[in-house]
Amino acid sequence: MAARPTVVVARALPAAGLERLRERYDVRIGGLDAGRETVLDLVRGAAAVVADPTVAIDGEVLAAAGADLRVVANYAVGYDNIDLAASRQRGIAVTNTPDVLTNATAELALALTLAAARDLRTAESELRGGRWRYGWEPEGHMGIELSGATFGVVGLGRIGGRYAELVRPLAGELIYTSQSPRPAAESALRARRAGIDDLFERADVVSLHVPATPETSRMVDAARLERMKPTAILVNTARGALVDEAALAAALRDGRIGAAGLDVYAYEPEVPAALLDAPRCVLLPHIGSATQRAREAMARLVAENVIAALEGREPPTRVA
Ligand code: GLV
Repeated sequence: MAARPTVVVARALPAAGLERLRERYDVRIGGLDAGRETVLDLVRGAAAVVADPTVAIDGEVLAAAGADLRVVANYAVGYDNIDLAASRQRGIAVTNTPDVLTNATAELALALTLAAARDLRTAESELRGGRWRYGWEPEGHMGIELSGATFGVVGLGRIGGRYAELVRPLAGELIYTSQSPRPAAESALRARRAGIDDLFERADVVSLHVPATPETSRMVDAARLERMKPTAILVNTARGALVDEAALAAALRDGRIGAAGLDVYAYEPEVPAALLDAPRCVLLPHIGSATQRAREAMARLVAENVIAALEGREPPTRVA
């Protein structure tokens, strides 16, 4: 009997996908602490590698895997952790998990928007820390009210589009950036396309929904932050690389923007001390897609992609 192909799960995958892979393949699992050396070791001879945003898949990993490797299946919608050019060069398919995490991630962006606007983190930690002294405070905990606000959605893709739908009932104006106009969304959401600088100047809330690429790297830098209103809120559930974190921390500290809600950081799991110390800033540990429903669906999609690729069919959500 021919040996079963080897599938390497670099870190972990929920049972909803893992069991399907185990039925068909020999599955090796790195575990949450798997570092670079473990991954390089583990992938040897693999036909498929399941990665996630913390696992860099570059030429060295692909070479370490060797000639049997057919597919890298990312357990994530973003795939900036994967060197697409190196994968293409070796004829290795790359897949991601779009759609199934759209609601979860857009809902988290909405949660961060509201939490940042009312600085829920400070209010809750004062209560928990025993510093709630005055009952109802006539002038305490003043937040930013969002009804009628101008919402700026940077990138009206799946997640940005869903976020726009969710905030539409709150929004006065809804503006967005996109590489091309989105007439259907414009009429359904009464949204208007804007240039990026115009959006940063006009929006009361700026929510980022573009992938990390060389073009979007640090797109929110000191100059863009300078354009924002002193009461405006920045929300990032996309990738930390989009934001100059030192410039953001300084803008919050100096009161040059209103608040921020972040789920992602440039060098996860490191969070710069300046951000931890910054006022009116809600910080979450990259949990955008972390709902049971989304993560199980993502895991199933990972398995479908691997199975399709190893059976010689087109993977359902191939990106390269
Ligand atoms: C998570 O960050 C993802 O890209 O799915």
